[in-house]
Amino acid sequence: PTIQRLDYQQPTFWIRKVDLSFDLDPAKTIVTSKLQVERNRAMPHGPLRLHGEELNLLRVLINGAGVSFRQEGHELVIDNPPDEDFLLEIRNTICPEKNTALSGLYTSGGSFFTQCEAEGFRRITYFLDRPDVMAVYTVTLRADAAKYPVLLSNGNLTSSGSLDNGRHFAVWHDPFPKPSYLFAVVAGDLVAREQRIRTRAGKDHLLQVYVRRGDLEKTEHAMNSLIASIVWDEARFGLPLDLERFMVVGVSDFNMGAMENKGLNIFNTAALLASPATATDADFARIESIVAHEYFHNWTGNRVTCRDWFQLSLKEGLTVFRDQEFSMDMAGTPSARAVCRIQDVRQLRAMQFPEDSGAMAHPVRPDSYSEINNFYTSTVYEKGSEVVRMYQTLVGRKGFEAGMKLYFERHDGQAVTCDDFAAAIADANPGSDLATRLDSFKRWYSQAGTPRVTAHGEYDAATQAFTLRLTQQTPATPGQTDKLPQVIPVVMGLLDRHGAALPLDANGATERVLVLDQAEQTFVFNGIASEPVPSLLRGFSAPVVLNDGLSDAALLVLMRHDSDPFNRWEASQRLALNRILHALRAGQPLTLSPVFIDAMRGVLNHPELDPAFKELALTLPGEAYIAEQLDTFDPQAIHAAVMAAQTQLASALRDDWAAAFEANQVQGGYTPDPVSSGKRALANLALSMLVLDAQATGDTVWPGKAYQRFKDASNMTDRLGALSALVNANAALAAPALERFHALFKDDALVIDKWFALQARAPEAEGRVFARVKALTKHADFTLKNPNRARSLLASLCMANPAAFHRADAAGYVFWAEQVLAVDAINPQLASRVARAMDRWAALAEPYRSAAREAIARVAAKPDLSSDVREIVERALASG
Ligand code: ARG
Ligand code: ZN
Repeated sequence: PTIQRLDYQQPTFWIRKVDLSFDLDPAKTIVTSKLQVERNRAMPHGPLRLHGEELNLLRVLINGAGVSFRQEGHELVIDNPPDEDFLLEIRNTICPEKNTALSGLYTSGGSFFTQCEAEGFRRITYFLDRPDVMAVYTVTLRADAAKYPVLLSNGNLTSSGSLDNGRHFAVWHDPFPKPSYLFAVVAGDLVAREQRIRTRAGKDHLLQVYVRRGDLEKTEHAMNSLIASIVWDEARFGLPLDLERFMVVGVSDFNMGAMENKGLNIFNTAALLASPATATDADFARIESIVAHEYFHNWTGNRVTCRDWFQLSLKEGLTVFRDQEFSMDMAGTPSARAVCRIQDVRQLRAMQFPEDSGAMAHPVRPDSYSEINNFYTSTVYEKGSEVVRMYQTLVGRKGFEAGMKLYFERHDGQAVTCDDFAAAIADANPGSDLATRLDSFKRWYSQAGTPRVTAHGEYDAATQAFTLRLTQQTPATPGQTDKLPQVIPVVMGLLDRHGAALPLDANGATERVLVLDQAEQTFVFNGIASEPVPSLLRGFSAPVVLNDGLSDAALLVLMRHDSDPFNRWEASQRLALNRILHALRAGQPLTLSPVFIDAMRGVLNHPELDPAFKELALTLPGEAYIAEQLDTFDPQAIHAAVMAAQTQLASALRDDWAAAFEANQVQGGYTPDPVSSGKRALANLALSMLVLDAQATGDTVWPGKAYQRFKDASNMTDRLGALSALVNANAALAAPALERFHALFKDDALVIDKWFALQARAPEAEGRVFARVKALTKHADFTLKNPNRARSLLASLCMANPAAFHRADAAGYVFWAEQVLAVDAINPQLASRVARAMDRWAALAEPYRSAAREAIARVAAKPDLSSDVREIVERALASG
């Protein structure tokens, strides 16, 4: 059944208090639930309908007496509940060890964990499982004391002790009313890293990070990240930690990154555990940002939550924005901040832009869904964060902070909508560029598709005026043909042809925010002494595709001189992209021009640019992003063009790469700080270029060095960097290196995930990568039951390696169909993620397009698909 946003109605009943008890057993857990229920007087009389899935119902009592009820689909219906407040008691059993969907209560590695967002609570017991029903929870856990010494739930521990038969119990009370999706239980043989802190407000708190025995030394970084997050939220937004105890738990089987359950965040171990020997710089950065993200949800999500799931971006877009701001502040220097921003934009372009132009395109606030889990998307998260960033750009940093303050004053303890958030920011900033255009600004919530902005500049030497004409247009998306103009903040400056910043007004300001809110607008700058180069959309001030029509000469000025580091990077990417697109459109082999090569050499050898920035500027645009620029795309042609560009860049800059490799060795012990990780990133890029070049020249020195470095590396970043250089371009050395790597890390699941992923992401050549992946599905360490492991092969191949996946013989699609069906029988959420590899099938060139459609149709023909996968494949078919 499809659910429509505009059909929202308040619940007919409220649940104010919940008293839950669990007799934990992997095969049969008994759940007893006592609910304080009251009629919602604002709604007409009606039956009480509770959600429940996969439950074995034992009894239903109202005020202690039996009551007549019926089970209707996934609902328990009580037709004639009392008019006055009443106590509803339900008892049911569930089977956690058979719960392979990892939604609700499940077992992993012999312990119990829950995942309730979005609709997992109904797989634990019958409930009004919707976010606008908020209750105060008291939870009693009973379990075998030897097997499950640690018993955790939300809030504060109020009592604990032993019971008969070797069992024990714990009672937890969470004083904050919360929706059921924030409920959590953990029980198992876990150990904790602990830290006591006193916050600015003078309150003492206990922080705990729980993991399996043996993983404790990998929790230091997570703990440090948590402490930094607490300090940051108090300093930047005045938001303190509101619980005496804050717990974080790691679990190996988890569908997503992590979950912000009140006071008891649960993490995929991949997003929590790190040591220099087992995690890369990128892992360290990702862990810091996810720990922060979940912690920040405590205010943006938990204290103020969503009225309904259509409002998901209210908490996710805002919290991603907050974690991105946090990571930038942690990075420190302007250049390191820009590196964060560039990485976020690259991610947006690689994931969200294709989503916005594919079968699943949807607005930041979707209008309908049949399975809400399918809408935990990069549009809701990452584009949602860009929308929040635009608020900040339009009202300024101070204005945004004032808006946040008003938001919490108005809505603390409530379940609200994106409109409430917009109103708070605007009301705190009357007369601002936002407040005066609030209705049109909110089109960012309702219109799908990435707006195309075109800029055209004209300089009149006689009047010294520069006229900038901006036009915008948002392409049609499924179900939305006509789009209105968006409100697009364009942060900009003008440079003269030597790169000097030009004053834009009488006060000498060199940067301005233009607000484009019409289909077409003209902005005139006076007193411009010579023909300028416009630097537009600085810092990526709006999630749009910009065509600025700049010549290579103008792009070179920006790349060398722009005061905005984001646009310097953007110019380097644009230069490369122009060349690749030109070759693809002309159907000709790509040849890099000497001007381009020199520009790249200039970046690589630049005395002042940070290594991290250099690495980003010298990395070619991703294949998915290139595909985005074309109406129809041939994945093989794109791959060939990128490989040609890479090979030429490797060869033309050979000596420079070698010098960069030597110059960027990090001395001393490992720390994942921006400076050392930037050096490692550049050294690893240089190494992979040198090994790639050696493949063409027959040189054996650099491959040998890479192998040595792989063997001797003292941290995972360098070890994996060297291994990847070999896997990508030296089959002879890759084989023993892979074997050695596996032997070294066979007991560390997270590292073995990397081992699988690295092979599945290798550049395709003659079908070898695809063949390798198929063989690896039979490897003793491979399983579809663990989401990280399944993704390490399936998502890596189908979503991150277009040239290996899209094959003229359609074998990639056949593989996809088989795997989606196999995973769907185990874990629908995971299956539907993999299913999304076909989102953009309709834009594929032939023969890929027809073969892809056939594979999707074959999956859709299966009668007993999960609602998750069904929604994805049906939307896919409808999009062609
Ligand atoms: N709220 C979590 C986060 O972003 C994501 C959990 C979503 N889980 C799911 N199965 N849909 O931090
Ligand atoms: Zn989140």
